[in-house]
Amino acid sequence: MTKLRVALLSGGISSERDVSIKSGNQVYEALDKAKYDVTRYDPATDLGKLVAEASGVDVAFIVLHGPYGEDGTVQGLLDLLHIPYQGSGVLGSALAMDKWTSKRLYREAGLPVPPFQVLTLGEAFDTETLAKMPGYPLVVKPRSGGSSIGTSIVESPRQLPQALDLAFDHGPHVIMEAYLEGIEITGGVLGNDNCQLLPVVEIIPESSYTFFDYEAKYQEGATREICPARISKNLSDGAQSYAAKAHRALCCRGYSRTDMIIHDEMIYVLETNTIPGMTPVSLFPLAARAAGISFSQLLDRLIELAFEDRDRDVRQREIS
Ligand SMILES: Nc1ncnc2c1ncn2[C@@H]1O[C@H](COP(=O)(O)OP(=O)(O)O)[C@@H](O)[C@H]1O
Ligand SMILES: [Mg+2]
Repeated sequence: MTKLRVALLSGGISSERDVSIKSGNQVYEALDKAKYDVTRYDPATDLGKLVAEASGVDVAFIVLHGPYGEDGTVQGLLDLLHIPYQGSGVLGSALAMDKWTSKRLYREAGLPVPPFQVLTLGEAFDTETLAKMPGYPLVVKPRSGGSSIGTSIVESPRQLPQALDLAFDHGPHVIMEAYLEGIEITGGVLGNDNCQLLPVVEIIPESSYTFFDYEAKYQEGATREICPARISKNLSDGAQSYAAKAHRALCCRGYSRTDMIIHDEMIYVLETNTIPGMTPVSLFPLAARAAGISFSQLLDRLIELAFEDRDRDVRQREIS
C-alpha cells in the first residue's frame, strides 16, 4: 500500500502557538506511520516550503489555533494549492473564529446565547451604560481568538477598564456578555453532513480558577473533565443537538466542538471551535474516546472526511 503523504501544520504565529505545538506533537505521534508519510511544517517559517512542495502532498492536517490558522486563511492557501485538509473550509473557519458573527448565526438557528454588547475601538461608547444590558458580573472577550486569551470576568465597574484594555489588545472589537453561572459543557460532532454526536463533556476547573482560563485549560490536573457529563438525558440530548445545529449554522465540516453553559436548566451556546485542541488533556479526543474512537482512529476518520469533502467539491465542479 502506498502511504499517504501528510503535511502536518502546527506552530504558527497566533498567541496559541505553544498549544498548537503541543497538539502537533501529539498528532504526529499518533498518526499511523504504516499509512502516512508525515512531514511537519510550521507556518511561522515554512509557508514557502509548503507551497514549493505542494505537488508532493496528498492531504494536510492542520493543528493551528486562533488567527492565521483556524480562521480560514491557511485553509484558503491550501485550497489554492489543491491540497485537501481536515475540518472546516474557509467559510466555516472564518465564521466560527468570529464570535460576533457566530452569535448572529446561532440566534438565527434558534440557539440561545447570553445577552451581549459589542464595542468597537475608536467609537465613543459609554461603557457604564452599555454594561447595564448584560449586567454584572460580565465577561469581556475579544471578538476573535481562543484559549480564553484576552478574556476576563468583571465583577464591578471598577474592573471594567482593565478588562477592556486587555481584550482590545487582541483586535478592534470586544464582546461584553452576561456571565452565566452554571455547568460548563462542550459538545463534539464528527462528520461532514450526517454528523456523529459525541458524548457531552463536563468541565470543572479547580476552585482556585474563577473560570476556564488559559492555565485551567492547559495545566495538567487544573481542570476535571467528566465524560459523559453528569446531567439529565434531556439536557445531554439538548446539548448534542445544539452542537450539531451550531456545526451546521456555521457551515463547519469534518468536526467541531461547541462550548456551552447550562444556567437555570437552560443551555446557552458560547462558541464553536473548528480545530479543537489535541493536547493530552484536550476535550475532543476525550469525547471521542468515550464513544469508542481511539486517538489514531479519530485522525484516520478526519483524513477520510477530508477526502470525502474534496471528492464532493470535485463532483460539484464537474456538474456545474
Ligand atoms: N457568558 C459566559 N458566562 C460564563 N462563563 C463564560 C462566558 N463566556 C465565557 N466564559 C468562560 O470563559 C471561557 C472562554 O470563553 P469562550 O467563549 O469559550 O472563548 P474561547 O474558548 O474561544 O477563549 C469559557 O470556557 C468559560 O469558562
Ligand atoms: Mg471556548
